[in-house]
Amino acid sequence: MNKIVLIGFPGVGKTTIARKLAKILNYHFVDLDQDFETHYKTDISVFIHKYGEQNFRKCEYERLQSLLLSFPDENVIISTGGGTPCFFDAIEMINKYALSVYVKMTEKSLFIRLIHAKKRRPLLQNMNEEELKEYIHKTLSVREKFYEQAAITMKGEDADVPELANLIKKRVSERN
Ligand code: S3P
Repeated sequence: MNKIVLIGFPGVGKTTIARKLAKILNYHFVDLDQDFETHYKTDISVFIHKYGEQNFRKCEYERLQSLLLSFPDENVIISTGGGTPCFFDAIEMINKYALSVYVKMTEKSLFIRLIHAKKRRPLLQNMNEEELKEYIHKTLSVREKFYEQAAITMKGEDADVPELANLIKKRVSERN
């Protein structure tokens, strides 16, 4: 059975794209952030506040591993959190069990997207505009080398999901 994993910086639209893809390809859809919150029965922001980011990363990795090893009889699309592929050997694990897609955006687009949506993101909540710009620049430069290991890279601005679906179909048939 096939697994597709979407990775990329917060705000690029991983969840929205994954949902659309799942519809087009008729795959089951799982959002890792949502799965984490259901499994631990708490908001990610509350979890990070209570137990710290390091513990969040360990538990997030375990949930990812569990999802990658689940669904033996179903095709699945998993959208991940922005930091998921950048800790431990997560990107290697993703690439071992799934076809990975990096949804890529410029720093400028990320800033515009995140300035409107930072309230929902625990790591960004209290930043002013300058701090957010700086955070995007610094964090992306650390994370990009993980994101770039994806099998497919797509542009997040004006994302063409049907085109991505066709590319995935082609890659999946080549892999099987
Ligand atoms: C995080 C991104 C979030 C969520 C957590 C940490 C990050 O997911 O996993 O708050 O480290 O960038 P989104 O990318 O869906 O916002």
